[in-house]
Amino acid sequence: MNVGIIGAGRMGVVHVNALKKIDWVKIVAVCDLLVERAVALAKELSAKAYTDYQEMLDREKIEAVWICTPADVHPENVLACIERGVPFFLEKPVAVKKEDGEVVVRKIEKEGIYHAVGYIFRYSPVVAKLKELLQEEQIIFPAGEYFWTIPLVDSIKSKEKAGGQIVDQATHMIDLMRYTVGEITTVYTGRSRGFFPEESLYTGDDASGTVFEFASGISGSLVCTYALFPEIVRYYPPKLRVICKRKLIEWSGNEIRVITPDKETKFELKSDLVFLEDQAFLDGLRKQDRSLVKSSYQDALKTLKVCLAANQSMETGEKVIIG
Ligand SMILES: NC(=O)c1ccc[n+]([C@@H]2O[C@H](COP(=O)([O-])OP(=O)(O)OC[C@H]3O[C@@H](n4cnc5c(N)ncnc54)[C@H](O)[C@@H]3O)[C@@H](O)[C@H]2O)c1
Repeated sequence: MNVGIIGAGRMGVVHVNALKKIDWVKIVAVCDLLVERAVALAKELSAKAYTDYQEMLDREKIEAVWICTPADVHPENVLACIERGVPFFLEKPVAVKKEDGEVVVRKIEKEGIYHAVGYIFRYSPVVAKLKELLQEEQIIFPAGEYFWTIPLVDSIKSKEKAGGQIVDQATHMIDLMRYTVGEITTVYTGRSRGFFPEESLYTGDDASGTVFEFASGISGSLVCTYALFPEIVRYYPPKLRVICKRKLIEWSGNEIRVITPDKETKFELKSDLVFLEDQAFLDGLRKQDRSLVKSSYQDALKTLKVCLAANQSMETGEKVIIG
């Protein structure tokens, strides 16, 4: 299968490395606005380099494309794929503005194009176990945490361009809550900001606290920060603690801990998540089986709406009902 890459930055390279492990896939073209990035990656793969993704899609016989550009570029990339009938794997989030996502989703529903969105936790075997465990429980309160540093790549430092921490990063946690706990109906978020005036390009919130209401009637929370340092993930990776009736279930990375009055049970399942999500997308495409894809654009847009509601709540100081 001949595939192409749009965006040869961090995630572009991560997906290329996963795709190299699948012997029936050939990366035939790479596009990046930065010519040196496109050329360097294309050279390594013996592929063609482009700086214009429309030209790449027009000239090459591409059977699937990976969209790894900054989020504000995603809608135009996706529309170009739909116009040409090219199946696409899209990195999260689907867009930065709800209106852009809604235009795209209508086109997808009309054309029925095969695609996937990169909500990577959904492909984790340990998350599958978490989902299974939670189905047996009375969930009382899920509490997520995402601790990180000021974004390392320039394209994500600007909240105006990339959406800020909740839209760009903690979107994974919100999606995980939707996937394992259920739909979110309202959002209230408070934030702290302005502690890093020395950081050029950075316009994000330094920390935020969100309270959700779920359709099932329970509440939940999310604490996020960019105020720490890259090493924090070694000590404190993203976590979801789910308070259940007389039981605490904690997910983090490859591990789940289940704590009851008499014991602690651990489940550990290591996996290469990027490989699993790329393989699922490709297998689904080859077999024409959409059930292998765990995150569609329609569903991912619901996650974006929750994230944007958090941003709106920060601005207005009011609880936002998800429309
Ligand atoms: N799933 C994950 O865990 C994860 C982790 C990090 C980033 N991401 C997502 O991946 C996407 C890319 O993030 P990144 O960290 O790789 O960013 P990045 O800045 O490292 O790479 C983006 C690349 O896209 C290129 N680009 C921008 N506009 C373009 C255009 N119109 N045509 C072609 N190329 C263009 C840039 O020059 C850059 O090289 C974002 O949506 C981000 O949220 C996902």
